[in-house]
Amino acid sequence: MRIADLEFEPFLDQSEIESAIERVAKEVADDYLNKTPLFVGVLNGSFRFVSEFIKHYPQSCEVSFVKLSSYQGLSSTGIVETLLDVSESVEGRDIVVLEDIIDSGRTLQELIHLFSAQNISSFAIATLFFKPSKYKKEYQINYKAIDLPDEFVVGYGLDYKEKGRELNDLYILKNS
Ligand code: IMP
Ligand code: MG
Repeated sequence: MRIADLEFEPFLDQSEIESAIERVAKEVADDYLNKTPLFVGVLNGSFRFVSEFIKHYPQSCEVSFVKLSSYQGLSSTGIVETLLDVSESVEGRDIVVLEDIIDSGRTLQELIHLFSAQNISSFAIATLFFKPSKYKKEYQINYKAIDLPDEFVVGYGLDYKEKGRELNDLYILKNS
């Protein structure tokens, strides 16, 4: 499949992605019994993950979003900006950030920085996709749905040049 100037091939089915999300939602629920966590989705890529996660989250919770920016096309610019802040008061809250994908961890570091300045009760990260061979940061990711090889992927909310977010399955960059 062609997206902009690149060729991609099918990698994971929607059903495999969604059963991994259901598993993670239940794992988080077990850890937040009798709490009302504030789930913070990272836009734009996490919108489908957040929606599916919430479908399977069986307990009290709240949902909000932040927007950061670091990627242009295939590789990170290294500049991570906060474009849109969490509008709710986060003071005293149990924050669980929902990320679409963690690659170098730079975006994650910015999020940790953003929340560390606030008086929150607890902080955790759940990511839909994780590239273990790319991640070099110290922070231990609390919840991971699916590990990926070090290749660029699109679909299920993730984009290449803002295209492909609507794809129900996950596609991986074809090697020549
Ligand atoms: P990091 O800051 O390098 O960890 O990159 C995280 C952000 O980069 C994600 O929130 C995505 O928006 C984007 N990203 C990283 N890898 C991919 C990929 O394989 N496909 C699409 N977007 C990606
Ligand atoms: Mg992107």
